[in-house]
Amino acid sequence: MSSATLAHDYTARARLFGGNRMKLGVMAFNCSHGSTITTVPEAWKLNWPDTKDIAQAVDRAGMEALLPVGRWKGYGGPSNFNNCTFESFTWASAIGAVTNYCTVLATVHVPLVHPLMVAKMAATIDHVTGGRFAMNVVCGWFKNEFDMFGAHMRPHDDRYKYATEWLDFVRRAWTQDDEFDFTSESFNAAAVWSQPKPLQKPHPPIMNAGGSPAAQDFTTRYCDMNFVILKDRTYLECAKAQIDHLKQMARAHGRETRIWIHVYVVCRESEKEAKDYLNYYVYEKGDWEAAGNLLKIFGLHNQTLDAKTLDGHKAHFIAGHGGYPLVGTAEQIVDELGKLADIGVDGCLISWVRYKEELAQWNAEVLPLMVQAGLRAPFAPAQTSRAAAMPSRVGGAAVA
Ligand SMILES: Cc1cc2nc3c(=O)[nH]c(=O)nc-3n(C[C@H](O)[C@H](O)[C@H](O)COP(=O)(O)O)c2cc1C
Repeated sequence: MSSATLAHDYTARARLFGGNRMKLGVMAFNCSHGSTITTVPEAWKLNWPDTKDIAQAVDRAGMEALLPVGRWKGYGGPSNFNNCTFESFTWASAIGAVTNYCTVLATVHVPLVHPLMVAKMAATIDHVTGGRFAMNVVCGWFKNEFDMFGAHMRPHDDRYKYATEWLDFVRRAWTQDDEFDFTSESFNAAAVWSQPKPLQKPHPPIMNAGGSPAAQDFTTRYCDMNFVILKDRTYLECAKAQIDHLKQMARAHGRETRIWIHVYVVCRESEKEAKDYLNYYVYEKGDWEAAGNLLKIFGLHNQTLDAKTLDGHKAHFIAGHGGYPLVGTAEQIVDELGKLADIGVDGCLISWVRYKEELAQWNAEVLPLMVQAGLRAPFAPAQTSRAAAMPSRVGGAAVA
């Protein structure tokens, strides 16, 4: 897509499926501590005024995505990492109302929310945002959260069978104009009716964040984007093989998948300063107890990373919830982003220790270098108002 189109089509489908070579977003600031399991006093403290400021700064910078994590409970330890969280659909609706260009995602735990409820909430947010909504579908692994809901945590691969039925139900509610019955192993719904339909046709983009073979099968058959944890960060050719495999699987199912990863960023004037700060918040002030609690439960319930790999990733979990490190000067970070684009990463979702300040630095120092490097086009928003721009952006779809 040309930069001219970028300036006028802000639907999630246009921005996430086309556009910049390396797409960007910011994630996890709907949770206390964001993605950083540390006791440093400057760690992210959840509050709405700062949340709104961050979202609007991301939006003005022309980034593609804002992603909330689906989280309901903390992990204990001195930081009680992620113990305070804004619920993701209500967050997305409010964020959507105060932004203009950015895709706003919600993360949904499929076993915890009924598909008809999700279809309705998503359609509502798609209207609120003028077609800028997308949805991250997760099957869950944090058993303590399921216990709060009294919900059954299925055996691993059955989670993705359930997700297949669940997503089928959501899609029917999004696309079928008349009433329908939905009968499957897990659902028995009669005369289902859902209006309005989402503005985006056929529906908002779907992301999935699983990584096991069962999840890969699900994501490459039914989703548009896979939110991937790169298993090997030392050799990019191994990461490339992981990405190629997913893209080939999707092609075999007659689809295309886009690969997004989580990156944690420490950008400083010198590489040494960046590494010193990383060492400070991870090794001096990291909450290894909370990280241990998280990894113990994750280790029991995921089939993405084996125990040895997880143990090797422990510092990455403290530094940024297992994300990929972008630590160094702005030039080094852009160089690394270029390498990630070369191996097939379509988008990066960023977390920082101090979202507000480091986002401002990113916008001032890193984004212009990404433009110079050809990874992104300069962002030049259309001069039309949101309301005026909306109908043409979604093909004239209207509330029924
Ligand atoms: C980048 C990324 C983001 C994720 N976000 C969430 C989330 O918000 N909530 C959640 O419960 N699980 C989240 N997960 C966990 C996955 O959905 C999945 O349950 C986990 O990686 C285990 O994968 P598996 O089910 O394929 O074994 C995330 C995983 C990754 C890699």
